[in-house]
Amino acid sequence: EDHIPSVELHWAHHGMLSAYDAKSVRRGFQVYKEVCSTCHSVNRLAFRNLVEYGAWSEAEVKAMAEEVDVVDGPNDEGEMFERPGKLSDYMPGPYANDEAARAANNGALPPDLSLIVKARHGGSDYIFSLLNGYSEGFAPAGKVLLPGLYYNPYFAGGAIGMPPPLMDEAVEYPDGTPATISQMAKDVAVFLAWAAEPEHDERKKAGFRWILALSIAALVAGFTKRFKWAPLK
Ligand code: HEM
Repeated sequence: EDHIPSVELHWAHHGMLSAYDAKSVRRGFQVYKEVCSTCHSVNRLAFRNLVEYGAWSEAEVKAMAEEVDVVDGPNDEGEMFERPGKLSDYMPGPYANDEAARAANNGALPPDLSLIVKARHGGSDYIFSLLNGYSEGFAPAGKVLLPGLYYNPYFAGGAIGMPPPLMDEAVEYPDGTPATISQMAKDVAVFLAWAAEPEHDERKKAGFRWILALSIAALVAGFTKRFKWAPLK
């Protein structure tokens, strides 16, 4: 394809037994909420998923949910109504539908980011590379960029309809981590990896418990066999 390969990073969660970096997931959600959510939804994520993961308190997430107006109904009179969000609600997207999304973005459709880490070759590496990959003024000689497109060599074709979303200090991290472009890109890539596979840590733990249990069972079986057969040797 017509793009350069993603930078390969050593993600904390890539080890056989490694969990996500929970602080990074938390910071990454902040980046999503304050920057990316103006154009992108994460519509498979419910507020309760944040509480279940454990990097946010229930009170914190309840307050976040209550800030959004959710359309519910019909009520007893058959009418739809608006109410404050609850933990069980899914995160609202920025646009009513795809047409509205395209209209606001020069015809390009900002994809839902819930599963983007799985949908794109390179996963978190790709997200990180893409967000760091804007290089205004460095398009190869002869590359023509139509209005509304930006040069990004990690994007297939090299011309993307997403304006560079990050700039240094775009967010202020309460934990004091400096909010450089690469730091925010890393955090949001970890957040999106988590969003695409929130059961990842549990899966690795369960896998480890199986391996441990089967190893013990194999040892017990081995010694039992030796013990039982000993008189016949
Ligand atoms: C596309 C991530 C912020 C508008 C994309 C893609 C990703 C992404 C992964 C898909 C690229 C592909 O198809 O391979 C993010 C992240 C953001 C962010 C992590 C926050 C840090 C924004 C903002 C806007 C925006 C603020 C609107 C101003 C778009 C559009 C596309 C897109 C229009 C489609 C581009 C095309 O198909 O040419 N974004 N985005 N994004 N994004 Fe964003």
